[in-house]
Amino acid sequence: MTIQYPPAAPGATPDLPVRVPLVTQPLGLFASLRAARANILSIIPQIATTQPMVSGRTGIRWHMVMDPGALRRMLLEKVDAYPKSMVTKNLLRPAIGESLFIAEGAHWRWQRRAAAPAFSHRNIAALAPYMTRAAEAACERVEAAGPRALNMYDEMVRATFDVISDVTFSGDEGFDRAAVHRAVDGYVAEAGRVSLFDMLGFPDWVPRPGRMMSGHALREMKSVADRAIEDRRKRGSQGVPDLLDLLLAGEDPETKRQMNTGELRDNLLTFIVAGHETTALTLSWALYLCAFAPAEQENAAEEARRVLGDRAAGAEDVAALPRVRRIVDEALRLYPPAALVSRTAREADELCGREIRPGDTVMIPIYALHRNRLLWEEPDAFRPARFRDAKAVDRYAYLPFGDGPRICIGGSFAIQEAVIILATLLARFRFRRVPGREPKPVMIITLRPEGGVWLEAEPRR
Ligand code: HEM
Repeated sequence: MTIQYPPAAPGATPDLPVRVPLVTQPLGLFASLRAARANILSIIPQIATTQPMVSGRTGIRWHMVMDPGALRRMLLEKVDAYPKSMVTKNLLRPAIGESLFIAEGAHWRWQRRAAAPAFSHRNIAALAPYMTRAAEAACERVEAAGPRALNMYDEMVRATFDVISDVTFSGDEGFDRAAVHRAVDGYVAEAGRVSLFDMLGFPDWVPRPGRMMSGHALREMKSVADRAIEDRRKRGSQGVPDLLDLLLAGEDPETKRQMNTGELRDNLLTFIVAGHETTALTLSWALYLCAFAPAEQENAAEEARRVLGDRAAGAEDVAALPRVRRIVDEALRLYPPAALVSRTAREADELCGREIRPGDTVMIPIYALHRNRLLWEEPDAFRPARFRDAKAVDRYAYLPFGDGPRICIGGSFAIQEAVIILATLLARFRFRRVPGREPKPVMIITLRPEGGVWLEAEPRR
């Protein structure tokens, strides 16, 4: 199978927010390997934004799927035929074991059933005070930093880590947050440069460049979490039940099975790894976009000030903040934190009329899906209004949280948190770009702003 590449795209347009330069010339295996180590998204061919499906062979057979019907088939109708690829599993297993994110079949099913109630609408709303507190603390830090520019990406990482550590191990005095934060960051930094070998599903025994798991950091992270879980078992819940309490109480409604300490720990660490940075990225890109488009920012800030006055946002405000919500939705479209997910075909199938063989790597480049010209008007432009009529957006053209049974369990949690923090910030500050300090979108596990999101924050009073 060969790919026809169109001529190089015209240069960057000044009125569009930053983009990943996609490849317009076919890359050989070694050039692909080099490019992928710097930024896995840079292996996506430009034509993935103009066609429903791209296939190729780089050592092994691979496909990239951007067609909503084919995506529905993979994620919903034939989910067992497309299990998560080895890349995801190899990368994350040392940190989070056979947890919800990684497990397949019966082992996945019972964990998902046991964890689902913890993420019910009611429980997520009950966790909002932690998000409100983190929003207040972020505002205090931004205020204290004064008028100089600050890296809002660092601030948002701090804010979302406050939330996730509060809702997983709230009030555990023995829980050393800083140690867990260091361990998670260290792990992601070391394991993070996804090798293209992984992406394409090469067997495990093929040596990976730069794969050095930090045994010490991982052991430290796990033992801190185990101690906190054991303490909680003895002490019982105090105050508002957090995710640990809810998981301790959770059981598979069919088998009545409950999680043991190791399973609880792996799942709580999964929530930290899967939920903390992704939400920080959503907020950072949303703030970048607000500074990029001042009129959109003023529009959302006006709404936030009207609804909130002087107070920080809470769960009860989220429904009254549709403009802020649309900025979050559009940030997730333009910069989906999980910008590329991957599956390995288990059986022969056909997608968009093309043959899929068992063992083929089938990627969902969410970044390219969200910018596909067949699905979106002006796909590279920042237009929050496109989400005004949610029904007008094809379900399978917009997949920041995936879909089907393996859809992100924390999607509503993340949206609530992002709206609460963004609304509170926009009501109190006006964010401005710092010339010459544009972030560069780079995917290292998640789609990050390389160089940070540097903005000036002027208090609104
Ligand atoms: C904006 C923030 C987030 C984004 C963009 C995001 C994105 C995703 C995506 C795309 C998947 C599906 C992956 C695949 O199909 O291969 C996923 C799964 C998952 N996410 Fe999230 N996520 C976010 C926040 C969270 C939060 C806050 C939590 C937990 C507190 C969480 C926990 C999980 C778990 C456990 C899974 C695996 C679910 C399963 O396989 O049953 N995520 N996420």
